[in-house]
Amino acid sequence: MKRKIKNNVSWIGYIDWELENFHGDEYSISNGSSQNAYLIEEEKTVLIDTIWDPHGEEFIENLKKEVDLSTIDYIIANHGEPDHSGALPLILKEIPDTPVYCTANGVKSLKGQYHEDWNFQVVKTGDTLDIGNGKELIFIEMRMLHWPDSMATYLTGDNILFSNDAFGQHYAVAELFNDKADPCLLEKEALKYYANILTPFSAFASKKIKEIVALDLPIDIIAPSHGVIWRDNPGQIIEKYAKWADDYQEDQITIVYDTMWGGTEKLAHRIAKEIGKLSPDTRVKIFNVVKKDKNEIMTEVFKSKAIAVGSPTVGNNVLSSVSGWLTFLKSLKFKKKKAAAFGCYGWSGESVKILQETLKDAGFEVTDSSLRINWDPEESDYEMAKEVAKELVS
Ligand code: FEO
Repeated sequence: MKRKIKNNVSWIGYIDWELENFHGDEYSISNGSSQNAYLIEEEKTVLIDTIWDPHGEEFIENLKKEVDLSTIDYIIANHGEPDHSGALPLILKEIPDTPVYCTANGVKSLKGQYHEDWNFQVVKTGDTLDIGNGKELIFIEMRMLHWPDSMATYLTGDNILFSNDAFGQHYAVAELFNDKADPCLLEKEALKYYANILTPFSAFASKKIKEIVALDLPIDIIAPSHGVIWRDNPGQIIEKYAKWADDYQEDQITIVYDTMWGGTEKLAHRIAKEIGKLSPDTRVKIFNVVKKDKNEIMTEVFKSKAIAVGSPTVGNNVLSSVSGWLTFLKSLKFKKKKAAAFGCYGWSGESVKILQETLKDAGFEVTDSSLRINWDPEESDYEMAKEVAKELVS
């Protein structure tokens, strides 16, 4: 069932209350999500994006209840990732000649995934499409936000920016709009989304936000492809993105570790205690990498000015739980954050050096001091925790 957004613009997406993970198992979903597609019915009828294939049949059936598919004049494919393009093959089987507007990279992405030579119409930033009644669509390439093909589409007259993935959240809200959402959850999910998906592309985000602001387009609504539609002060999410994209950090230090027999866990807590003594206002958080959701930890890292990572030595290396997490950490390309390493060992004791090298390779400014403790720590071993804390808070 379509739901009115403004005038002749409707939401026709899918709210997925039961989704638990996304991007394979890379992104945990805690509060549901949605795939938002939109229908514009002016002199021309326009479909903006579709939804994910598992719900494709249902989507087409709903769409058919609202419009005769043969009356759709244009399809806008803002992004080729399957959560937005998944129902395109089903639709285009029924209306095969309908023009599909996308970027040049969008053609590559859609052809590569669906192996169909649809009626692609390549657009670039500033190109427009007249849809009648004095309204037009303006296309804005959003390269690397978060795929090379990503694009946004702006509707004049109604002043709606269909931003696709940008400004989205994996958050199910039945009422669709930001003013109907729980504000704490909305902030949390928008930040988790940025931290875990967009952080590596922050330089692109900064540049693009400046470009969008310079276009000086009135924006009454930002309609992303996931989560709430921003109609109450839509500029707030643009302002947040500008802040988050600018090497964002708070006065927070996050400690992440795994442990075999509890020694490395003791070090984690001791470092936290020393930070608390030195800088009582600094927010300190401690996570066992196995027990806490990796995306939630990464959101805390995003907010932090420094981190400490711990693992005992096992098999001349670090625990696989920690190395897997570090691989994810590196992929997010954090900048301007400090990091310290710590860990216990029985004999060879390579873990701390490996952690330091990996953190450096991941773009962190690694502290000179570390905590490398033979067997289980005792009071005299904790002296160095003070040095680690001092470097992290400074
Ligand atoms: Fe929501 Fe990049 O797809």
